[in-house]
Amino acid sequence: MEPHSYIRRRNEIESYFDGTAFEAWKRLTSEAPLGRIRQTVRAGREEMRKTLLSWLPEDLRGVRILDAGCGTGVLAQEAAARGADVTATDLSKSLIEIAQNRRPKLFGCGQLEFVVGDMLELDVGTFDYVVAMDSLIHYAPDHMIAALAKLSQKARRGVLFTYAPKTPALAVMHAIGRAFPRSDRAPAIEPISSFQMEKLLESEPKLSGWYACRTKRIASGFYKSQAMELLAE
Ligand SMILES: C[S@@+](CC[C@H](N)C(=O)[O-])C[C@H]1O[C@@H](n2cnc3c(N)ncnc32)[C@H](O)[C@@H]1O
Repeated sequence: MEPHSYIRRRNEIESYFDGTAFEAWKRLTSEAPLGRIRQTVRAGREEMRKTLLSWLPEDLRGVRILDAGCGTGVLAQEAAARGADVTATDLSKSLIEIAQNRRPKLFGCGQLEFVVGDMLELDVGTFDYVVAMDSLIHYAPDHMIAALAKLSQKARRGVLFTYAPKTPALAVMHAIGRAFPRSDRAPAIEPISSFQMEKLLESEPKLSGWYACRTKRIASGFYKSQAMELLAE
């Protein structure tokens, strides 16, 4: 059973992506035209997706991947098109519906399954890799590390994830965000400095069999995110 504070935050995230943010998210992850600011976010997210996908083996045939917090399923689709067998899960039923509707008829590619639910509660065996692109950024650092520890138990080779890097520019953006009425706001992003992330990873006993390998910061307009690769020792 997850702690109450985690469940409270998870419920906020679910209703945000299922409700307030649904249309915006649907558009952001499509090819529909966007305003200038959102276009920078789309460009940054594309670069992040390419980065994470480039950290996976070239030949993904027979490789099992969990896309944890898949949103509309773009990364999952690309991994499956490269041959991976992908299970993609998200809290938001509406985003999973979009992912299903956008799913191409894959030919000669890996399997692709979309599941509504909490990535931590999913019980469908183990994977070679777990990928969590921007899906842990709304959790407080202790919940994020606990989630990574749980996800690492589902992974045999690697866990690729992103976090919101703590930078002065991001602090200003978050302060601006806090000026909006609560009903219009996204659940707060929880920025973490690289130093704090290193310490958190080191101090979690369940991550003792894992080491941090590549890391890359992507900054594109309002999109700032840090990719990180954990590999099994
Ligand atoms: C910022 S979006 C990113 C979506 C996708 N990874 C992408 O990059 O397009 C974060 C997603 O994580 C999902 N999410 C957050 N916590 C989750 C959890 N505990 N289990 C499953 N999905 C979760 C949210 O519902 C949301 O769709």
